[in-house]
Amino acid sequence: MSKLNLNKTWNYATATESTNHILLKEKYDLFINGEFVKSNSKKYFDTINPATDEVIAKIAEANKKDIDLAVKSARRAFRSWSKLKAKERGKYIFRIARMIQERAKEFAIIESMDGGKPIRESRDVDIPLAANHFFYYAGWSDKLDCAFPNQNPKPLGVAGQIIPWNFPLLMAAWKIAPAIACGNTVVLKPAETTSLTALKLAEIIQESGLPKGVVNIVTGAGNTGAEIVNHPDIDKIAFTGSTNVGKLIQKSIAGTKKKSTLELGGKGANIIFEDSAIDQAVEGIINAIFFNQGHVCCAGSRLFVQESIADIVIKKLKERISSLIVGNPLDKNTDIGAINSKEQLATINKYIKIGQEEGGEIYQPKCSISKKGNWCPPTLFLNVSQSHTVVQEEIFGPVLAIQTFRTIDEVIEKANNTPFGLSAGVWTEKGSKIFKLTQELNAGVVWANTYNKFDPTSPFGGFKESGFGREGGLHGLKAYLKFE
Ligand code: NAI
Ligand code: MG
Repeated sequence: MSKLNLNKTWNYATATESTNHILLKEKYDLFINGEFVKSNSKKYFDTINPATDEVIAKIAEANKKDIDLAVKSARRAFRSWSKLKAKERGKYIFRIARMIQERAKEFAIIESMDGGKPIRESRDVDIPLAANHFFYYAGWSDKLDCAFPNQNPKPLGVAGQIIPWNFPLLMAAWKIAPAIACGNTVVLKPAETTSLTALKLAEIIQESGLPKGVVNIVTGAGNTGAEIVNHPDIDKIAFTGSTNVGKLIQKSIAGTKKKSTLELGGKGANIIFEDSAIDQAVEGIINAIFFNQGHVCCAGSRLFVQESIADIVIKKLKERISSLIVGNPLDKNTDIGAINSKEQLATINKYIKIGQEEGGEIYQPKCSISKKGNWCPPTLFLNVSQSHTVVQEEIFGPVLAIQTFRTIDEVIEKANNTPFGLSAGVWTEKGSKIFKLTQELNAGVVWANTYNKFDPTSPFGGFKESGFGREGGLHGLKAYLKFE
């Protein structure tokens, strides 16, 4: 009987999402005090589709004066927003959540066009989760006294929020929803390669009737971000991005009264024990590292396989990555989309080169890749050890470093031997092992027999160089409140 071979005998017909109904402006301005306004810099930069190299739109670059206007507008709005009946605040946030749901398809397509992620992910993960964050925190707005009884919770004031390019709308939701639910007002800056869905969110916010100035959205690159960090009238900085910029922010705000939460890089350990359900674990390994092209701070980028099953797991993994579809993010069959930017692709390629130079054994399946756009095939590194650069440093791409282990104590020591402490995964049928590892792994999130599962009710954040503070759940509210 011939074996069903999905790689060689089956081809998927393309199923590309249409972009005909997507309405994008040629130029996007800043969203300050409830209006779209031109930047004082008069400068615009291009936002590019990383799968085609085409310019999708021009985005305004905010300068110091613009940031000052945005902060002043947020400060003015804070006076009334913080005093508004909490139930009324909640109504606005519910409305924003509903409006995201209503326009979910449009948002998903724009997210994939601007950032390169597969439509399957933006449609099924990013956009629904973003709406869920608004729903979840809308529900808390009038229950803060129940969440923190006898502590008299009060908002902090104006929050400066800086977000990365890997989950553009979702990170905006993680930042804005809890902040405004607690009665704060915000100045948010999306990442320079992926501003569009944040600006589309600004349109929704305008339409929702949210009082002017409660949410201000300013665009630009690192300099614009630094202006927010250094503005004297900001009460809190919430940042998600690289550990290097996190360190810069800490230096800048040292000695000021600004509060901060930093969600930085990671190098998650995904640990597969010999008693795990191997096929499920292989799927889990794939999801852990190749979800969103590996542009995930909590990606399972270090795989630890118990020695007795290493051969079979690696064989299955190689077979499985050969069937992954790399290509057009808007095709519903695509598993791995485009790398977010030319800069990020150069970083990933630099690490792949270092990995080989240091003696790692590379495995990449053959895939036909378009000449235009930024692409990287799923990549495995075998024969690497703790001291290899590809094991130690965050690559933020579809590159998995594979090591083996014999005992539980050995793998705990190896998994914790990293400057980061954000996430880990454990695959085993034994509950007692799960309990031991969840206690001994130094990671903010440990998934058991699954990976990359997110929920607004669950706190997320790291230890060590992965940053501090938690987003999501009750913990996420606490980061935007003071207690008197
Ligand atoms: P980045 O940290 O420079 O960018 C993140 C955000 O910070 C962007 O909005 C950016 O404009 C802003 N920013 C940059 N410099 C700033 C400054 N001096 N002050 C205030 N804001 C500033 O990250 P980048 O350069 O895009 O990526 C480099 C590496 O960082 C990646 O390869 C990856 O390893 C890591 N990274 C981690 C993320 C995470 O989710 N933990 C997200 C993005 C990047
Ligand atoms: Mg772009």
